[in-house]
Amino acid sequence: MVKVTEKRLITAALPYVNNIPHLGHIVGSHLPGDIFARFCRLKGYDTLYIGGTDEHGTPALLEAKKQKIPLDKFCTTIYKEHKKIYDWFNISYDNFSRTSKPIHHELTQEFFQKIKDNGYIKEAKIKQFYCEQDKIFLPDRFVEGTCKSCGYEHARGDQCEKCTKILDTLTLINAKCTLCSNTPEIKESNHLFLKYDKLSSKLETWLKKQTHWRPQVLNLALAWVKEGIKERGITRDIENGVKVPLEGFEDKVFYVWFDAPIGYISSTKEHTKNWESYWKEDSKIYHFIGKDNIPFHSIFWPSSLIANGEYNLPYNVVGLQYLNYEGGKFSKTHKRGVFCENIPKTGINPDVLRAYLTFVIPETDDTEFKWSEFESRVNSDLIGNFGNFINRTLTFAHSKLNGEITQPKDLEEYSEFNQQVLEKINKVEELLEKAELRHAFQEILSLSDLGNKFFNDQEPWVVLKQDENKAREILYICSDLCRKLAILSSPYIPQSSEKIFNILNLKENPTKQAIWETSKEIKIPKKHKINKPEVLFEKLTPEFVEEFKKTVAETSDLKDLF
Ligand code: MF3
Ligand code: ZN
Repeated sequence: MVKVTEKRLITAALPYVNNIPHLGHIVGSHLPGDIFARFCRLKGYDTLYIGGTDEHGTPALLEAKKQKIPLDKFCTTIYKEHKKIYDWFNISYDNFSRTSKPIHHELTQEFFQKIKDNGYIKEAKIKQFYCEQDKIFLPDRFVEGTCKSCGYEHARGDQCEKCTKILDTLTLINAKCTLCSNTPEIKESNHLFLKYDKLSSKLETWLKKQTHWRPQVLNLALAWVKEGIKERGITRDIENGVKVPLEGFEDKVFYVWFDAPIGYISSTKEHTKNWESYWKEDSKIYHFIGKDNIPFHSIFWPSSLIANGEYNLPYNVVGLQYLNYEGGKFSKTHKRGVFCENIPKTGINPDVLRAYLTFVIPETDDTEFKWSEFESRVNSDLIGNFGNFINRTLTFAHSKLNGEITQPKDLEEYSEFNQQVLEKINKVEELLEKAELRHAFQEILSLSDLGNKFFNDQEPWVVLKQDENKAREILYICSDLCRKLAILSSPYIPQSSEKIFNILNLKENPTKQAIWETSKEIKIPKKHKINKPEVLFEKLTPEFVEEFKKTVAETSDLKDLF
């Protein structure tokens, strides 16, 4: 039985506000987090899906400077753009907050104070790159050079994009200031650190118990711990961030990766008075994040949490790999990719895009956006298989039987088929529980495939000629499978799922009610009349795809937004 009271807090990585998202961002955290959250609500868990923008650190600062816009105005505008896009995709955030809000600043300072009271903070002088030209200590991201691990030449000071290693900036070979390209010098200043020596064995013990994580994520994390975690300063010499509440640190702020994950908590707190029950009582916390965020969520963030001691550690860190674009990377400058701001203009159905993206969620390996595949996946798998079964069932029932369907007197006759259906449903559930979203969707499609075969085998168009009542029974079984499919697919294609329920003339709403369990029963009233069907999805024509491709390759210059 489902434990209906189980609490689940789901988060997606808080995006920086230095750009407008492209499909890689959607498929790398917001969409998988959303599918999982919708599934959890449907199953009756007490679920919250929490997000927001990460507005501190250098990414926003650099971009705002470049655009010559005051930082707060810049962040507000970009925040709104992000929000609009996630809304268009029907990402069901319960709260989408901002780390620039006072509630977040206060909570971060309290969070730090507790860590300090627990004896996990130390002060030390550190050496840092200083740019003589620009007269500033260079934040990690303002330094670029060669990664000593993999030899990648444009590694940023904080992390190598290529091998995902978190770097000690000073180890960069041929370091350059990214503002003026001069070679910076090394100077000393005072900073705060988390005491990793005191934390690492606790962290390791905890990590080793996380055997339910995806192996790619867990193995990465364990390898880092084994290698020995480098101490990382939690303060920075820049203007954009949460102030450090400590004498002598008036000019410094917390490192963006220290405060950002605390944003998950402050966004929850902003949303509900009950926030502590998701963070401090029995609950499961799931973080959906991209590959480059794995070290921060599996090492750095849990370390902060252990040191603080008041909050639950994540139950699962769902790390996703990258989505590439036609054999390369998404690139704004080269107009390679699918950028989100113009998608609404194309008139495409959000569910169609969500379904296609589900096929390429990079769960185990990097995946690829390909235009040819976009068209064929949508037309043959989503429409040709899933849509076809729903459509032929509802259309037949409506046009040939006046919409009237009847439960078979003898359900036994269909027991073998119903058994197969039930097995599939259980399989889908099992996969969704493990957040294997892509695989679960494939099982849903194989269930509609099963439906198509059943429809063909039963030949209701032949039966109708001799025995109308028998035809109503066959269509009842098919319609009930439509209902089941609508429930199972509602985390993926929520609007279409509601539509199916409307056509079926059923009162429940799979996007608003916890009706997952009813997918395992025969549920449509014994004598029932369905409504007039409407088309669920339009087929993609080559002309539409061509036009779509052009529109979404355009991405506005950020300055056009101001
Ligand atoms: N802003 C980071 C990025 O885009 C992700 C931060 S996730 C957080 O890579 F939760 F820690 F905020
Ligand atoms: Zn410089």
